[in-house]
Amino acid sequence: ERTQVAIIGAGPAGLLLGRMLELAGVDAVILEHRTRAYVEGRIRAGMLEDRTARLLDELGLADRMNREAAVHHAFEMRFDRQRYRIPMAELTGGCTAVMYSQQEIVRDAIEARVASGLPLEFDVDDVRLDGVDTDTPTVRYRAADGTEHVLACDFIAGCDGFHGVSRTSIPAGVLTSYEHDYPFAWLGVLADVPPSTFELIYACHERGFALHSMRSSEVSRFYLQVPPDEDLAAWPEDRIWSELRTRLGTDDGWTLAEGTVTKKSITAMRSFVVEPMQYGRLFLAGDAAHIVPPTAAKGLNLAAADVRLLADALCTWYESGDDAALDRYSGDALRGVWRAQQFSRSMTSLLHHDPSSPMEWRLQHAELKHVCTSESAMKNFCENYVGYPPVGRI
Ligand code: FAD
Ligand code: PHB
Repeated sequence: ERTQVAIIGAGPAGLLLGRMLELAGVDAVILEHRTRAYVEGRIRAGMLEDRTARLLDELGLADRMNREAAVHHAFEMRFDRQRYRIPMAELTGGCTAVMYSQQEIVRDAIEARVASGLPLEFDVDDVRLDGVDTDTPTVRYRAADGTEHVLACDFIAGCDGFHGVSRTSIPAGVLTSYEHDYPFAWLGVLADVPPSTFELIYACHERGFALHSMRSSEVSRFYLQVPPDEDLAAWPEDRIWSELRTRLGTDDGWTLAEGTVTKKSITAMRSFVVEPMQYGRLFLAGDAAHIVPPTAAKGLNLAAADVRLLADALCTWYESGDDAALDRYSGDALRGVWRAQQFSRSMTSLLHHDPSSPMEWRLQHAELKHVCTSESAMKNFCENYVGYPPVGRI
C-alpha cells in the first residue's frame, strides 16, 4: 500500500489538509483512531476567525456554514455590572467572526471526502510511524476489520491532537517544549435555550470568568471558570444557572433565559508549544504541536492556519521538487502560534480571577477599563482577537 501523504487524525487539521491536497491533486490517506460518530459528536470550539471561514469557502466546504452560521461584527465585555460593546469589525477593516461549531466543520469535511471516494479510515488502532528520518517513511496500523497494514508514503502529517502518537514518536532531544498550566479550568455547558444575546458576552467577575456563546438560535453555549481539579458532579443545573446569572448580571435589567442543560464538561487550561513542528518527513499541525487556553478561541483557527501553510509547502514540493517551503513550514507556522499564544494568555489573565493575587485583580480592572474605553487599546485588542494580520505575514 502506498500514498503520497499519510495524514494521522481526522480532526479539523487532518480533514482540511486532506481537502487541500485533494484539490491540488496530491494523494492522501487519512487514518483516524475514533469512530465517525464519535468524531462528529465531539463538542469543542465554536468561533471561526474570518480567515478560517474564508478558507472553508475556498475549499468548497462552506455551503452549510454560509446558510446556517451567524456572522458577528461585535462582542460584549462585562465587569462591575456594566456592559461595553466592542465593535470589532469596524475597528479591523471589516473582520467578522463566524459562529459555526467545530463538529459541523468536521461533519461537512467528512461528507465531502466520502463523496469524493477518497481514503478515510475510522476506528484504526495501533498506529506506528517508522523511517520518519528517511525519504521512505511508513505508517503501520490495524484497520477496523482487524487487518494489519503498512502504508508507504513520501510525508506524514501528524494531525492527531495533543494525545496523538505523532509528536511522541519523535526521538527525545529533538523537540523543545514550552508549557504553562493555569490555576483555572472551564466548565462548558450546552443548553436548549435561545441565546439571551446576539453577540458573545465575556464577563469578568469576582466569582470568576463567564462566557455566553451560542450554537444556533435554539442552543446556547456557556463557559464558567472553575478550579482546575473541579468535580463535574459539583455543578447541578441550578448551580450553573445561578452562577451564570450572578457573573453575567448587569445594572440595566438584562436577563438570562434559562433552559435544559444537555451537556457539560470540564476542560483544563494550558499553553503548550513544541519546536520545531517538523522532524524529517513528519510535519506536526494543530493541537499535536500546540495548545492554547480556550479564552480567545484560537485553537481551531491555528490548526487551520497550520495546515494551510503545510498544504502549500507540500504542493510546491510535488510541483517542483523544491523543499525550501517545507523547510520554512515550522518557522512560518510558529510565528503565528506564538502570536496567538501571547494573546490567548493575555486575554485569559485579563478576564479570569486568581484569588491569590489581589494586586493582579486591581491591575486587571485598570486594563479592562482601558481596553473598553480607549479606541486605540480596543483596536489593538480586536486586531488580535480577529486574527489579523494573517499568519505568515507578520
Ligand atoms: P483534534 O481536533 O484533537 O483532532 C485530532 C484527531 O486525531 C482526533 O480526531 C483524534 O481522535 C485523532 N487521533 C488521536 N490519536 C490518534 C492516533 N494515535 N491515531 C489516529 N488518530 C488519532 N478551541 C477553541 O477555539 N474554543 C473552544 O471552546 C475549545 N474547546 C475545547 C474543548 C476541549 C475538550 C478540547 C480538547 C479542545 C477545545 N478547543 C477549543 C481546542 C480546539 O477544539 C482544538 O484546537 C482543535 O480541535 C484542534 O484540531 P486538531 O485537528 O489539531 O486536533
Ligand atoms: C465557543 O463558542 O466555544 C467559544 C466562543 C468564543 C470564545 C471561546 C469559545 O472566545
